[in-house]
Amino acid sequence: MDSIAIVGGARLYGDIPVSGAKNSAIKLMAAAILTDQPLTLTNMPRLADTRFLGQLLRAFGIRVDELGADTTVLHAAELTSTFAPYDLVRQMRASFNVLGPLLARTGEARVSLPGGCTIGARPVDLHLKALQALGAEITLEEGYVHAVAPHGLKGTRIDFPFVSVGATEHALLAAVLADGVTVLRRAACEPEIGDLALCLNAMGARIEGIGTNTLTITGVRALSGTQWSVIPDRIEMGSYAVAAAMAGGEVRLTRSRPELIAALTDRMVAAGVEVSPTSDGVVVRRDPLVRLRAVDVTTEVYPGFATDLQAQFMALMTLAEGESVVHETIFENRFMHAPELARLGAEISVHGGEAQVRGVERLVGAPVMATDLRASMSLIIAGLAAEGETIVSRVYHLDRGFEHLEAKLAACGAQVRRIRGEADEH
Ligand code: UD1
Repeated sequence: MDSIAIVGGARLYGDIPVSGAKNSAIKLMAAAILTDQPLTLTNMPRLADTRFLGQLLRAFGIRVDELGADTTVLHAAELTSTFAPYDLVRQMRASFNVLGPLLARTGEARVSLPGGCTIGARPVDLHLKALQALGAEITLEEGYVHAVAPHGLKGTRIDFPFVSVGATEHALLAAVLADGVTVLRRAACEPEIGDLALCLNAMGARIEGIGTNTLTITGVRALSGTQWSVIPDRIEMGSYAVAAAMAGGEVRLTRSRPELIAALTDRMVAAGVEVSPTSDGVVVRRDPLVRLRAVDVTTEVYPGFATDLQAQFMALMTLAEGESVVHETIFENRFMHAPELARLGAEISVHGGEAQVRGVERLVGAPVMATDLRASMSLIIAGLAAEGETIVSRVYHLDRGFEHLEAKLAACGAQVRRIRGEADEH
């Protein structure tokens, strides 16, 4: 398995272009199941997760062609299978969400349950309830969900008990081809859901209320192909913004939109980082000789502080002056990075969903282990400011969600290199 070695202490100066959003790209790819015409996605990130999903879609008989640096054409002219085996689904949880579109297009699908995950139990009960409400008959057998809708899906009203990004997306991907009107209440309004809904509308769907917590979907008989540019990755953007603040220097994040990370930049400014919005991103400036102030954060659904940026922000707070409280409200076990940050000298105590970070004056490089995608990034960020060398192992987590990570950081002066290991098995 590969590792990443960072020698801390270098200031970062330069531009980092933000890639297309992983969490949008994989949903847009699933939308290709809904039409027999080609769907062309541009600004696609090339990541392990988009590769996993491409592999799964090919197993259904879908043509997936990667053209040039960032274009993918998906063509589901005809589906030859609606079976998603465990081996392909377990590699990436979100691939479970092919169930809804397969069902909507063909009336039948068998998809493996995604299984556990390091950041919590992450059940799919809301997904299944939504599909049942749309008229699917669902049976669970030997780790698989078998769903049938012999008479097609029917529009309905779905009141989610709490906000779930995955369940909202899944209901949307099924309801667009249902007969009649579906209303989703307490829907997630993350920008990636908006991106998916707008793309579906460009394909001929009729979705209203995009960007709000109530989505109204008037089902249509068929969808057509379209060309769609994937929204910028706000988590990647936020991660590099924090990286620049941690290392000090001046970094311009481009090809994005400042408002996508407003909740993060608000906290960064409160901590003493200079953040200036630009027409296509932000400039982050920090004098590393001036210590940051500790500030508290609470993760929330969009537009609140993203849980996917919690680990990175915690890394920043390890060197701030004072004590900050990081409150995680979305996932129940999302502080796996805390003991790894402690290996670099951070002082963090975790009680349930709350972590207290007592800022220290210095971190010292050490070997650490990545535990999940965003936690891995927090270790990279800490490594940028730690004295000496930090080696982050198990970077396959990072490869799932960060495109050209070392190249983007190195272009700004970071001393970072990949150490190639044996073939990954995970
Ligand atoms: C998505 C993102 C992930 C992000 C998360 C929250 C993708 C591919 N992943 O994950 O990066 O961290 O949103 O912004 O877009 N839950 C249930 N039952 C369900 C579904 C969810 O109890 O049927 C719970 C989860 O365990 C979790 C909470 O709801 O505690 C929120 O999860 P959800 O919003 O569904 O996250 P994902 O879609 O899995």
